[in-house]
Amino acid sequence: MQNRVTEILGTRYPLIQAPMNWLTDARLVAAVTNAGGLGTFGPNAGRDSLAQNGMEIMEHQIKMAQKLTNGPIAMTLGLNPQGEDQSYAQQVLERSLALGIRYFLVGGEPDETIYHEVKEAGATLIARSYNPTPAEAQRQVELGADLIVATGYDEGGVIPTHGNGTFTTVPRIADAVSIPVLAAGGINDVRGVRAAMALGAEGVFVGSRFLVTQEARTAPVTKQKIMASTAEDLLLVAPNQRSLRNRRMEELANQFRDGDHTTFHKTRELGGVRPAMLQGELEVGEISVNTGLDLIQTEPTVAELINDLMQDFH
Ligand SMILES: Cc1cc2nc3c(=O)[nH]c(=O)nc-3n(C[C@H](O)[C@H](O)[C@H](O)COP(=O)(O)O)c2cc1C
Repeated sequence: MQNRVTEILGTRYPLIQAPMNWLTDARLVAAVTNAGGLGTFGPNAGRDSLAQNGMEIMEHQIKMAQKLTNGPIAMTLGLNPQGEDQSYAQQVLERSLALGIRYFLVGGEPDETIYHEVKEAGATLIARSYNPTPAEAQRQVELGADLIVATGYDEGGVIPTHGNGTFTTVPRIADAVSIPVLAAGGINDVRGVRAAMALGAEGVFVGSRFLVTQEARTAPVTKQKIMASTAEDLLLVAPNQRSLRNRRMEELANQFRDGDHTTFHKTRELGGVRPAMLQGELEVGEISVNTGLDLIQTEPTVAELINDLMQDFH
């Protein structure tokens, strides 16, 4: 069943696999695209350590994915706050365009120059605010966005500091713009997809659920830990970061509760999601997953998962 999102993306289903730092690669991205969604490279896709050259790995990953699928593939451009240097996103954009990428997930406050360059290249721009508001969504449309992602506090990854949940964020953003909106944050099964559509979304943007799929590069022990955990195991370790419980994260959660405002920075110093989620060092770093993780109890193939999530669109 086609709708405005599938027409814009050139996909069978209105589903985007969300970027996840360190945890995407050519295999996952191509599997999503081959199963009818839009596979999206996140930061550090396919990279194993900071010692490796990030740009070279990125180019290699794009070429590998293009060998595995003929369908559309997206690249993430993570923007810094307005007024700060955007040269890294600029470089990722230029190199991705040169390799034929025509879909960009642009995260952060809208930047006039980057938006203009994506649109000038004839590419599709999917805009995702880190703290979505109707005003920012309207600005994204003004600057040429083709699709808007409305993300609620339920999500995995860096969470919106305003604390508004997916259930209230999606209709608010859908009412503010006339272009299609995709819902993000806590969508782990078909009930989440149906709820998103009922709230006015025309597609879904799914991250955490893909962490536990056969093709995901998440460490096997971390997949097991996610499947064995529930929302009660999540700790708020910073205003914009949750993690599954481990010794180090309990310390950070306590420091945060006692008024320490540097705990987000501390999660970054520990390596972010890389040690625990990619390398399986469960006691060392953060394990970031959405608040609906009780629903993540199996490790399907990407095709099985997408088939199930998209059962109303067959
Ligand atoms: C482990 C993990 C890492 C993430 N890393 C990034 C990132 O680097 N950049 C980004 O824009 N979003 C990142 N996200 C957020 C996702 O792109 C997406 O917004 C989110 O996963 C959607 O909500 P869900 O997890 O409930 O499906 C990350 C999410 C997770 C779970």
